Amino acid sequence: LTPFKRICIIGAGYVGAPTGAVIAYETNFDVAVVDYNAQRIAAWNSADLPIYESGLDHIVKSTRDGISKHADGVTTRSNLVFTTDVEGSIDAADIIFIAVNTPTKTQGRGKGYAADLRFVEEATRTIAKVAKADKIVVEKSTVPVKTAESVRMILMANAHPGVRFEVLSNPEYLAEGQAVADLLDPDRILIGSLPTPEGLKAADTLVEVYSQWVERSKIITMNLWSSELAKLAANAMLAQRISNVNALSAICEKTGASVDEVAYACGLDHRIGKGMLKAGPGFGGSCFRKDILSLVYLSETLGLPEVANYWRGVVDINEYQKDRFTKRVISCLFNTLTNKKIAVLGFTFKKNTADIRESPAITMVTNFLSEGAQVAVYDPRARKQQILVDLHQARDDTVALENNLMICGDAYRACDGADAVVVLTEWDEFSNVDLPTPEVQTADPVALRRSTVLDPNANNFVPEGTKHKEEELCAVSAFLSALKVRNVKVGSPHITSDEEGLEGSRVRVPVTPAQTVPQWRIDWVRIARGMRKPMFVFDGRNILDHGKLQRLGFRVEVIGKASLTEANVQC
Ligand code: NAD
Ligand code: UDX
Repeated sequence: LTPFKRICIIGAGYVGAPTGAVIAYETNFDVAVVDYNAQRIAAWNSADLPIYESGLDHIVKSTRDGISKHADGVTTRSNLVFTTDVEGSIDAADIIFIAVNTPTKTQGRGKGYAADLRFVEEATRTIAKVAKADKIVVEKSTVPVKTAESVRMILMANAHPGVRFEVLSNPEYLAEGQAVADLLDPDRILIGSLPTPEGLKAADTLVEVYSQWVERSKIITMNLWSSELAKLAANAMLAQRISNVNALSAICEKTGASVDEVAYACGLDHRIGKGMLKAGPGFGGSCFRKDILSLVYLSETLGLPEVANYWRGVVDINEYQKDRFTKRVISCLFNTLTNKKIAVLGFTFKKNTADIRESPAITMVTNFLSEGAQVAVYDPRARKQQILVDLHQARDDTVALENNLMICGDAYRACDGADAVVVLTEWDEFSNVDLPTPEVQTADPVALRRSTVLDPNANNFVPEGTKHKEEELCAVSAFLSALKVRNVKVGSPHITSDEEGLEGSRVRVPVTPAQTVPQWRIDWVRIARGMRKPMFVFDGRNILDHGKLQRLGFRVEVIGKASLTEANVQC
């Protein structure tokens, strides 16, 4: 059994809070998620959580409020708190995660590129000031390589006499919109440490925490600097794939090739793979842009300008894509947007989140307003106030914003009287593509996952050590076919030892829905009825059935496909 009981997570944001909640859910440790933003903490303590993620509500409320934790109805104590008592919680903890924001610097050396580490430094200084006993400090935030060295130096220089710190790197790979599923069943957990006996011991302690729910083979230990760089590298490679496909989308539009077909054909090569190859209006979100720019700055400071330029190209293509798509809208609408109404469907940077940070919609709406358009925005989850704040930051001309921008509560109002609809987020409710009826009627990964915990007393129980791995996997496959679950993604089986020396082990199979089930779809017939003619649709995510829309009289323009307007005219 682990000799410690308390974990403190500094930063109650998109990473810190879900991470803390999942640790509390999967272990019996006491977890305190702390933030000096009292409003944010109050929201985490309320019924209306500040972040929308599928399954998060259940996990937070069961651990925070101590209500029934598992599907079997077992009632547990509360082991998760959200608090502004940063110092008290640090003092009480054995392991402290730093999960604060690391935005791009907006002033001084490295402005516009380098990561601003002032929040990491502030959190580190607080830890040193408060800690009266040894602590393990875990870098969860995404940071430039060698940050752990600065963290260590600040801690040691300010430590109370006799207090020792070990610094670990443990970057987070969750993607928004699927944060809970990613935290429950991650592809890998990286733990970087110094190769000293103390460093390795601290790494073992963190391995022990994660191995309570993550398959041991997925928990990778390595040197500190590799771990720090591996996070920036992964984000740069993922974003690069999107820029690859977006660059190809420009070629497709000029040649008659279809970017979805090209991406599909490339993705079938197992060396390339299918993921992150969907063309769109450009990547958004709080991570990709800032992390690549941080890598560019790092390369420059290391005296590697060629490497810096290489990665800068990924961001340049992303800007080009947003610009290209704006120009396409303008040129199709007879080269002027003045006094035209543009309906923008989707403002979040991707579906299934309320987050609009770095969303391409911010740039596109700003561009439309600059061209004199009236813009009506509808998004199922983005908060109106946040849209206004972000657009105000992106524009100088607040008068145009106030007079020409409408944020609507539904798609019909946004599209009423519009000349064009521009789809910028791939929300399921916008799609008019026929889907097979899904058999799994819930999008809650937790409920599904719990239902697949195999009981040691059931027939499908596989006693640990008595069978070979192949036989265990066969047993699990048989179990899954017996369940007849379809339309779900089945993760790799995971064998865990039962706690407290109970006999045997449990086999757990992580199962998450392959697709979320939209509650409803917008009615494009109704949209068409309300629009000015000729009416245009710009499909920035390639999620619509273009033939159906053409039959309704729309002129359809799709990212990564040659203009369909000619075809419309012939219709
Ligand atoms: P966020 O802005 O949502 O949350 C950070 C929180 O930290 C804020 O609430 C802020 O008030 C708090 N904070 C800052 N300094 C503090 C201090 N000294 N004491 C107490 N609280 C403090 O940020 P986020 O999106 O959760 O990202 C956090 C880190 O994780 C970043 O480095 C980011 O790059 C990385 N990351 C983010 C994601 C993601 O999807 N958002 C995924 C992987 C990694
Ligand atoms: C990303 C990384 O995926 C995650 O591992 C890391 O921890 C944080 O940054 P996130 O930004 O939440 O996660 O979302 P992601 O799904 O990666 O999408 C980022 C952006 O790329 C979105 O705007 C999305 O619409 C866009 N995207 C994604 C594409 O345009 N095409 C794709 O094929 C995939």
